[in-house]
Amino acid sequence: MSQISMRDVRKTYRMGNNIITALDGVSLQIEPGDFAVVLGPSGSGKTTLLNILGGLESADGGEILNGDESISAMSENKLTTYRRHQVGFIFQFFNLLPTLTALENVSLSAEMSNRRAYNPVDMLERVGLGDRMDHYPGQLSGGQQQRVAIARALAKNPALILADEPTGSMDVATGIDVLRVMRDLNRETQQTFVLVTHNSAIAGIADRVIRMGSGKVQNIIQNDSPFEPEEIDW
Ligand SMILES: Nc1ncnc2c1ncn2[C@@H]1O[C@H](COP(=O)(O)OP(=O)(O)O)[C@@H](O)[C@H]1O
Ligand SMILES: [Mg+2]
Repeated sequence: MSQISMRDVRKTYRMGNNIITALDGVSLQIEPGDFAVVLGPSGSGKTTLLNILGGLESADGGEILNGDESISAMSENKLTTYRRHQVGFIFQFFNLLPTLTALENVSLSAEMSNRRAYNPVDMLERVGLGDRMDHYPGQLSGGQQQRVAIARALAKNPALILADEPTGSMDVATGIDVLRVMRDLNRETQQTFVLVTHNSAIAGIADRVIRMGSGKVQNIIQNDSPFEPEEIDW
């Protein structure tokens, strides 16, 4: 369970002589145990926002808090520890290690954590892959690989799960299946989820929707009766 708050977060990139503003004064709050969706068109700053929340990139200005820890004030060393123990990442293209089996991919992540990690076998069973644990990523479908990545992110028991377009490379049925797994785990573990997407249909399953445009938060809507993944109209 993580409470996230950002205040006036700024990030620019320099491309030759051009300065590109990726985040232009972002402020937001995400409550512990929320399933939050960051929604916005391509280029609106979603990935930058997620990477900063996860300590993969640093902001140029503003303040980012995870609980009472200030991410924006951390040294490189502290950020490494933060990423390893406090955050689980799920990416569009899974980023599994191809030479390790599903079980080894999940176990490696669990072993690196100093938190009370979940049993990797239990986690793989939890995402419906009890009979695929000894398969290599190349022997699994896209949806199965993403479920391994979800098990990997959750096995180390981080308080915060960050997912960047996790269903972006999937057909609709597989995407629903993956969202179902994430939504169930969120309700069960009360871990805070932040999912980034450009697909407004997906935002229907969120407790909180943060709409981005041109590096700014356009609005934040709390949804007291979110849809189930099967109910959304893709
Ligand atoms: N490493 C980078 N170098 C230069 N520009 C970048 C970099 N990463 C992102 N940008 C620019 O910042 C803006 C926001 O990008 P991004 O956060 O990836 O948006 P989104 O994920 O919403 O598509 C875009 O204009 C993008 O081109
Ligand atoms: Mg992106």
